[in-house]
Amino acid sequence: MIELSLHLLDIAQNSIVAGAKTIGITIVEDTETDTLSIEITDDGKGMPPEVLAGVMDPYTTSRTTRKVGLGLPLLNDACKSTGGKLSIDSELGKGTEVLATLGLTHIDRQPLGDMAGVIVMLITANPLIRFIYTHTKNGNEYKLDTLEVNEVLDGMPINTPQVGKMLKEMISSNLEEL
Ligand SMILES: Nc1ncnc2c1ncn2[C@@H]1O[C@H](COP(=O)(O)OP(=O)(O)O)[C@@H](O)[C@H]1O
Ligand SMILES: [Mg+2]
Repeated sequence: MIELSLHLLDIAQNSIVAGAKTIGITIVEDTETDTLSIEITDDGKGMPPEVLAGVMDPYTTSRTTRKVGLGLPLLNDACKSTGGKLSIDSELGKGTEVLATLGLTHIDRQPLGDMAGVIVMLITANPLIRFIYTHTKNGNEYKLDTLEVNEVLDGMPINTPQVGKMLKEMISSNLEEL
């Protein structure tokens, strides 16, 4: 993976597969502590302790199509190479929290990439999931909650190309202003 937004897409996919109804995506960029953190929380089925214990190991996977799971180990590597780390907390029947911390200005830190594009992709591909995306840069916050977007849309589906385009422009311009 070359961009953090693509890691995010992959990790959020785990939440979707786990049956999450609400997915929180929280990004914090902080110059003072020189950290960039990405947190993905979900209310999906969670992991039993034995799966959680081995989840950084590429040979832990519940998928049947290939024998190795790479999403979490790859993000773990991306964090570690910048002096950061990946922590995962999960409770069966409750949900999962994945927190990636990276060195913001570390030379090996991958760029965020197309965050707006990835968020819109997640939203439009999963119209029944509530996404709460918060992006904070040095204390300035932008928040997008699809529950509120759906209220404004007033019955119009969120997964149309027009709404997708509008959301992408809205997120991009709000991120630029942070
Ligand atoms: N949010 C989550 N909720 C429940 N289980 C999860 C979650 N994230 C990861 N897992 C479990 O950890 C395994 C490894 O995840 P990952 O490293 O992304 O590889 P893969 O998705 O290819 O299996 C998954 O197969 C799944 O069993
Ligand atoms: Mg995965």
